[in-house]
Amino acid sequence: RASVAASATVPTEPRRSARPAPPTLVAGQPFVNAPDTDPAVEASREWAQQIVSQETADRLAASVPATTVLASPAEVDVVVARAAEVAESWRSTTGAQRREVLLTAARLLEEARTDLVATMVHEARKTVGEADPEVSEAVDFAAYYAERAADLDEVAGATFTPEGLTVVTPPWNFPVAIPLGSVLGSLAAGSPVVIKPSHVTPRCAAVGVDAIRRALVEHGYEPDVVQVVSADEGEVGRRLVTHPDVTRVILTGSIETAELFASWRPDLDVFAETSGKNTLVVTSAADLDLAVKDIVRSAFGHAGQKCSAASLLVLVGNVGRSARLHRQLVDAVRSLAVGPATDLATTTGPLTVEPSEKLLRALTTLDEGEHWVVEPRAVPGTDHLWTPGVKAGVQPGSWFHLTEVFGPVLGIIRVDTLDEAIEVQNAVSFGLTGGLHSLDEAEIDHWLERVEVGNAYINRHITGAIVQRQPFGGWKASVVGPGAKAGGPSYVAQLGAWSDDASVP
Ligand code: SER
Repeated sequence: RASVAASATVPTEPRRSARPAPPTLVAGQPFVNAPDTDPAVEASREWAQQIVSQETADRLAASVPATTVLASPAEVDVVVARAAEVAESWRSTTGAQRREVLLTAARLLEEARTDLVATMVHEARKTVGEADPEVSEAVDFAAYYAERAADLDEVAGATFTPEGLTVVTPPWNFPVAIPLGSVLGSLAAGSPVVIKPSHVTPRCAAVGVDAIRRALVEHGYEPDVVQVVSADEGEVGRRLVTHPDVTRVILTGSIETAELFASWRPDLDVFAETSGKNTLVVTSAADLDLAVKDIVRSAFGHAGQKCSAASLLVLVGNVGRSARLHRQLVDAVRSLAVGPATDLATTTGPLTVEPSEKLLRALTTLDEGEHWVVEPRAVPGTDHLWTPGVKAGVQPGSWFHLTEVFGPVLGIIRVDTLDEAIEVQNAVSFGLTGGLHSLDEAEIDHWLERVEVGNAYINRHITGAIVQRQPFGGWKASVVGPGAKAGGPSYVAQLGAWSDDASVP
């Protein structure tokens, strides 16, 4: 029998005094976002210092969360059979009952914040500053989807029926929020789940799933409603995704992976959020100081390893010739603190994995018309630490314009009009995030009506969507499936079957 007993094993000092107590979650109360840890408070800095310490790294290394390692396709069948055994007890719950479990999960995830942040720092090489909001997002998913589960009971004239087993295959770049968001959404919709975390960040997911499993047990349900497994990406992974008893796969990853899954099993119901090639547009009506801050954050947070990251900066009209913007941007990029994730001063940390061929090309070569404004370089003696790069003169239609590179390099394209900027922005096959910096209402309206992205941001950085306020999801090649956005009102409702009551005899 396959089961998982992932345990959080990073004892660190409680830092309850470091931040305001999170709101008590009460069923039916208006949703509020979980607060991030405030680094201005001294106790928070002590907490963070302990998280990045060698002592914590050693504790993590010594703890082996017990995820089930699937060594053969036959072992996949055992896990799927176990999911079938517990499925009915979960599928037969009401949405209101599932709400209680998810609210408990929100509380337990909040209590696991220290362990989750520490695991992200040491396993995923995320800075504390990038990891902490990710825990808030996971807590938000639990609390927000809890209410959406209860909503399912209240829809007049239609009945929601949970579907079967969901397999979740998340990425390594948001190794807590994305896996847990997909798991919690599926649970809210009444489906049992098997999650196969990225092999790069298995512990991040396991520590979070442990909290969810404890929430299930606290309410008298089988923890194996959610199972965590490790499997290779070959035969075993393929058996998991193509198993006839799997109803749906929730994938967050590359478009190539989505296509691979579809080629394995054409009738598979895949809900995927895939790649992005995201643009920030700045017009002469922008607040340039704000724009520079948001460009740098969008392009170089987590070393650009976000599907939502800004990879292109399109400067419209005079802004493209603005010496002030140019100088401010160069100064800001050169001032980024490039270092290991365990240094609390770091703003741009290392790559989590070896750079792909595409990323290396983007970091080391220039195509026709391009020149370095800030040339990136690999920091000698480090494990994939790169200083950030900015290349200007990127040509519309060029390789860099159209290709997702997923790393710390930003390309600049200059155009004369906002319409040309929108054309450049919409020319990419993907449509995930995009931003406009302009204080001109007419420009904002014009852009919003035409831009083809799932998340369009005005005068704001284009990463870090907040649950409920900025439901997150793509358009065009960035999405596969119905595409109701994560952290939005319809995400849970799309994960089950609806029947019209009038047609039920
Ligand atoms: N939700 C993340 C963001 O908004 C990306 O997955 O940056």
